[in-house]
Amino acid sequence: MVTMDVDNKFFSVGLMILATLVVAKLISWLLMSRSGKRLPPVVNTWPVIGGLLRFLKGPIVMLREEYPKLGSVFTLNLLNKKITFLIGPEVSAHFFKAPESDLSQQEVYQFNVPTFGPGVVFDVDYSVRQEQFRFFTEALRVNKLKAYVDQMVTEAEDYFSKWGDSGEVDLKYELEHLIILTASRCLLGREVRDKLFDDVSALFHDLDNGMLPISVIFPYLPIPAHRRRDQARKKLSEIFASIINSRKRSEQCENDMLQCFIDSKYKNGRPTTESEVTGLLIAALFAGQHTSSITSTWTGGYLLRHKEYLSAVSEEQKNLMKKHGKKVDHDILSEMDVLYRSIKEALRLHPPLIMLLRSSHSDFSVQTREGKEYDIPKGHIVATSPYFANRLPHIYKEPDTYDPERFAAGREEDKVAGAFSYISFGGGRHGCLGEPFAYLQIKAIWSHLLRNFELELVSPFPEIDWNAMVVGVKGKMMVRYKRRELSFD
Ligand code: HEM
Repeated sequence: MVTMDVDNKFFSVGLMILATLVVAKLISWLLMSRSGKRLPPVVNTWPVIGGLLRFLKGPIVMLREEYPKLGSVFTLNLLNKKITFLIGPEVSAHFFKAPESDLSQQEVYQFNVPTFGPGVVFDVDYSVRQEQFRFFTEALRVNKLKAYVDQMVTEAEDYFSKWGDSGEVDLKYELEHLIILTASRCLLGREVRDKLFDDVSALFHDLDNGMLPISVIFPYLPIPAHRRRDQARKKLSEIFASIINSRKRSEQCENDMLQCFIDSKYKNGRPTTESEVTGLLIAALFAGQHTSSITSTWTGGYLLRHKEYLSAVSEEQKNLMKKHGKKVDHDILSEMDVLYRSIKEALRLHPPLIMLLRSSHSDFSVQTREGKEYDIPKGHIVATSPYFANRLPHIYKEPDTYDPERFAAGREEDKVAGAFSYISFGGGRHGCLGEPFAYLQIKAIWSHLLRNFELELVSPFPEIDWNAMVVGVKGKMMVRYKRRELSFD
């Protein structure tokens, strides 16, 4: 009798647990299906370090494998973090438009702090950062750009005047070098360009080499590259402090970004400190230098590979020379639409920043092109990829083909699918502030080359250097040149 009772008790408790589980499952299923929302699918990996291994193989390799299987929204478990990828304009609008309180850059871009230095950009609250980005915006206004362009043109003329009548060069190296010189002139100022160029570029080199993939996870790891980075940052501070003081003492005023940052004031009337000015200049150089030199190199590679496009850009230069003579200024560069499209297309295929990141502070939902809805919980890292998104076949016809005319009136493939279809410069709230500067600089260089040289690619078309932090051209890009004057009669 007693045993029967005990059995019955166990049976009823078991039944209750089972019933509770079934009801709980049913409620959650009902809630889920009523809202129609779900968590994104998860990349299938080995436990614990599987996600890390997939990521280390290369994020683009992982995207190529997973996008066809999982679609435009999916999550990768990376150690203790969850990274949710949002690929394509249909699902990435929130990524670009969300306020900093919902999706922030601060945590994911922290690794820049030891390079840029204290008190600037990702080391300060968003309200201060916004003010500092206002300084950038002001330093890159059209009236300032007009003055920078004259300096860009002079630098290109001087640089290429040192080439012989004919010869062979590594165009990648040449363009990198010219862009550092130009950036020094327009951004860092006359003192650095004329007197301190070698010292300052060596220090920037150390800063650059101190930003390694490992620095993203452990920015303060005591390794020689980080020690050299910290020493270089300190020396740069001293050099700029002395330049800033001497400008202030002599009340001399120059047409460069350094001057703009010296003259900038926060809303409460406080002027920038020397350390902030140095940090903002380093940030400008890091944002603009490799990105621009990589883009000018790919542009050259594609134009020299595709004779029809080379003829089209040369023809445009001839027409502009007929109209304006040899002069090149801001407004004339702005008329170079064919060259603009050629650069834009090289940048579509090869955005130097292949992955953009944010940290999510509140839940949000996205809807895919197929109508599926996903909830992305707060706490996830959210990522999108300019490299992958710029080659989506439902947006770009034959996406791996170099075809600058896809941006011409009548086609405008980057506009047809709506905003955020072309994201080499990011977009929305944190879109690149240096885009016009970058185009002007690359156009100034290429209009000079097209007008003054016959060029031929003599090495094989370059591959992509996936190992670099800013992804560019692997190895050399050898080019044979012959001096000539483009005839425009
Ligand atoms: C071809 C050249 C360039 C490319 C491809 C490029 C690309 C980008 C991208 C993708 C972002 C957005 C990052 C994100 O959303 O996380 C960005 C932001 C930014 N870029 Fe550029 N950039 C270029 C040149 C420049 C230059 C020349 C400057 C300045 C002189 C510059 C200054 C900035 C700044 C200040 C931001 C931050 C904007 C913000 O967060 O509000 N960039 N750039």
